Amino acid sequence: MIHKETIDKIFDASRIEEVVGDFITLKKRGINLLGLCPFHNEKTPSFTVSPVKGIYKCFGCGKGGNAVNFIMDHELLTYPDALRYLARKYNIEIEEEEQSPEELESQNARESLYIVSAFAQKQFTNDLYHTDEGKAIGLSYFRERGFREDIIEKFQLGYSIDKWRAFTDTALKAGYQLDYLVKAGLTIAGEEKTFDRFSGRVMFPIHNVTGRVIGFGGRTLKTDKKTSKYVNSPETDIYHKSFVLYGLYYAKKGIIAADNCYLVEGYTDVISMHQAGIENVVSSSGTSLTVEQIRLIRRYTQNITILYDGDNAGIKASFRGIDLVLEEGMNVKVLLFPDGEDPDSFSKRVSQEELKTFISENSKDFIAFKTQLLFEEVKHDPIKKATLIKEIVESVAIIPEAIMRSVYIKECSRIMDVDEQVLLSELNKIRRKKVTDTAKPESFAQEPILSSEGIDYSVEKKKEVLFDDCEEQEKEIIYFLLKYSDQKILTDAEDEEGRPTEVEVSVADFIIQDLNNDRIKFDNTLYQRFFDLYTNPELPTENYFIQHVEKEISQLAIDLVSSPHSLSDWERHGIFVITEDQFLKKAVLKTIYALKSKKIQKMLLENHRKIKDCKGDEEIMRLLVERKQLEEGKKLYSSLLGRPIIK
Ligand code: CTP
Ligand code: MN
Repeated sequence: MIHKETIDKIFDASRIEEVVGDFITLKKRGINLLGLCPFHNEKTPSFTVSPVKGIYKCFGCGKGGNAVNFIMDHELLTYPDALRYLARKYNIEIEEEEQSPEELESQNARESLYIVSAFAQKQFTNDLYHTDEGKAIGLSYFRERGFREDIIEKFQLGYSIDKWRAFTDTALKAGYQLDYLVKAGLTIAGEEKTFDRFSGRVMFPIHNVTGRVIGFGGRTLKTDKKTSKYVNSPETDIYHKSFVLYGLYYAKKGIIAADNCYLVEGYTDVISMHQAGIENVVSSSGTSLTVEQIRLIRRYTQNITILYDGDNAGIKASFRGIDLVLEEGMNVKVLLFPDGEDPDSFSKRVSQEELKTFISENSKDFIAFKTQLLFEEVKHDPIKKATLIKEIVESVAIIPEAIMRSVYIKECSRIMDVDEQVLLSELNKIRRKKVTDTAKPESFAQEPILSSEGIDYSVEKKKEVLFDDCEEQEKEIIYFLLKYSDQKILTDAEDEEGRPTEVEVSVADFIIQDLNNDRIKFDNTLYQRFFDLYTNPELPTENYFIQHVEKEISQLAIDLVSSPHSLSDWERHGIFVITEDQFLKKAVLKTIYALKSKKIQKMLLENHRKIKDCKGDEEIMRLLVERKQLEEGKKLYSSLLGRPIIK
């Protein structure tokens, strides 16, 4: 259990824009920030973050929440684990007793995998620096390769002792459970024996975007052909390879700053580029690029440059993967290193300046690169040439923007010496087919609706609602309670001698008294629970609800404060608030009237039903009297409601 005080501390410290900003790029938009939603696939940003309210809301998929909710949903953590995450981020101490092995076991399983992985990283680093074997073999290897000390430290490189189960034994002695060591991929459980996965290898820890270790790559230093050069962590509950890019944690800031991301082949390329002062670089670590990895990059930039080894035989094979990148609407450039060189070797041979100049001068647009490369091979063979033209046009057809497509068609027509019109008609043919084949619902999704209307008291909303459904009005009441609970309005009263006078009361007290007087209960049980929380002598604040432990309550609060009215208030602060306040009392009254009117209609329906089923005369009389009263009430409220809100 985490204490309530600590939870409050964590909420106070958490800046929503920083918490979200660790994962996605946010741009200022008025008093809010806007970015691409991480919870659904979108190309136009509709993910809004309000630093003032401490919440986020996506107007595309509807997801919204506070800082803790974001971490829960994004990192798939439980509530307490999300709190722990934020506590770590903001250096808030959570008092938890020294963990015994039993407690370690009972902890959330994923969290345990993070914990053993973090332990393993520390152990491997320790073995690198503080054992004779590590120093003589691991550290000297890194130094020979020219890795600087600060870089070895930054990337948390390590060494795994060359014994059957040196690491596993150390971990067990330290209290870690074998089960988790196996699940984290550090230990291999064979039929008879268990042993270390990485023994005798230099270690490259793999981090998630927040910097936690989730897996490892281990490189052998042996030269015999039988040992595979790299051994990597298997897929685990915390390491899903297709969703991870090596180096992204260290590259995030650099990618945003450069508005470009370099994609290299391996661990050592990433590290060497950093050493050469180029930090916007990631690697998909030996596997071909996945859509998820591309989307990971797209959170930070639309531009990606793929760096190929000079002797890379896999260039052509990689073209398919790059089509995926184009399809995601990203701009792709490629860079080919000189024969026999890769980013690692090249960056060590030349100066930092030379490297930067080389990269900027030699980056080519992908489609042009592909066209040129393939065209060289087929230009004398008309049949192959025709096939190639088709292929290239297919690549172009994938690009989502029309303008980009037309630029490419021009370029390709020049390179291949084919009439532009021919290419265009081919392009259109493919696109028409694509639309009918794979029309994704997403491409027809609505643009985010950012209401800019002034006052829209949804009492008068032209929405179709069930005749006897009060929920719309109940929600309005909750909205006013939440947004204006402690604002004062003037209300009619009597003084001690019974003369009419006016007194100032808070919106919350006004609503609560009024509804309690008429003994009105909410049909919607969640709204009722929300309303009941106002019975505290001390008025709960907006934050109290936004940060409420019960997800339903906090979700409702967040939905309400980010609903279209308040959105326009986010957008055009100041003016709107004043306007809304001026009409506050009237608006509150109207909402109460609307609710009561609905309640009466509902009771009338009920009354009609009862009369129909009624047997006894006396009962009928009572019901008829009730009906009369209800009808009078109905008339009263519709006349009250009919009055304009602004005189
Ligand atoms: N890789 C792998 N398993 C292998 C070979 C390669 O997982 N058996 C992955 C690693 O992520 C590696 C990347 O593919 O980083 C590129 O491979 P390679 O160029 O062979 O390795 P480098 O990292 O460049 O290592 P070195 O420079 O030490 O050869
Ligand atoms: Mn390499």
